[in-house]
Amino acid sequence: MGSMLSGRASVDLPADPAATEAFGQWLGERLRPGDTLALVGGLGAGKTTLVRGLAGGLRVDDPDAVQSPTYLLVVEHPGPVPLLHADAYLPAKLEGFLADGGLEYLFDARAVVAVEWADRVRRLLPARTLWLELALAPGGGRHLRLACADAAAFAFLADLPARFPFLPSTAADPANGPAASPAPPKCR
Ligand SMILES: Nc1ncnc2c1ncn2[C@@H]1O[C@H](COP(=O)(O)OP(=O)(O)OP(=O)(O)O)[C@@H](O)[C@H]1O
Ligand SMILES: [Mg+2]
Repeated sequence: MGSMLSGRASVDLPADPAATEAFGQWLGERLRPGDTLALVGGLGAGKTTLVRGLAGGLRVDDPDAVQSPTYLLVVEHPGPVPLLHADAYLPAKLEGFLADGGLEYLFDARAVVAVEWADRVRRLLPARTLWLELALAPGGGRHLRLACADAAAFAFLADLPARFPFLPSTAADPANGPAASPAPPKCR
């Protein structure tokens, strides 16, 4: 995350892939056509799981079709707002594709774009990019950090719950108790 980034937020997810999907869905219900979601995180961090939830939130025709696009570079999921799912694991390949006319295709103002391993093609990403880093947390959950250069473009992050409320493993865990609701993190 570069120092020019002006907005930051974070959220902790419990050890349940459904939590990662639910968070992706929350984002998908809020991102607008022309937005890019730049995903950063090591092997198995949960990037593709999150994109599957994102696809559901965007109401694409077949969210379950979301898979790791590594060998395909870009996979298009049609829907009212199409999702373009790209993978920069092999950055030279994606760069070649983008240089060869793919840039206009990928950063289509009518679509939402999700890029896995986005840190590998950082300089190619548009200004209207939301960065999302996933890291394994002790206990098997995931710690997510969000950052954006233009906080106004992603103003909904001001309403990001610090903990995801609609997760069975959190809600059903009495150890979490009724817990005073923490102030939502701000992305600005
Ligand atoms: N919050 C979570 N808690 C526990 N497991 C999770 C969580 N989120 C995702 N997973 C699991 O982690 C594994 C890896 O997820 P996923 O394939 O989405 O990662 P990825 O970052 O896309 O990996 P790769 O770099 O290999 O493409 C899957 O088995 C998924 O179900
Ligand atoms: Mg993946």
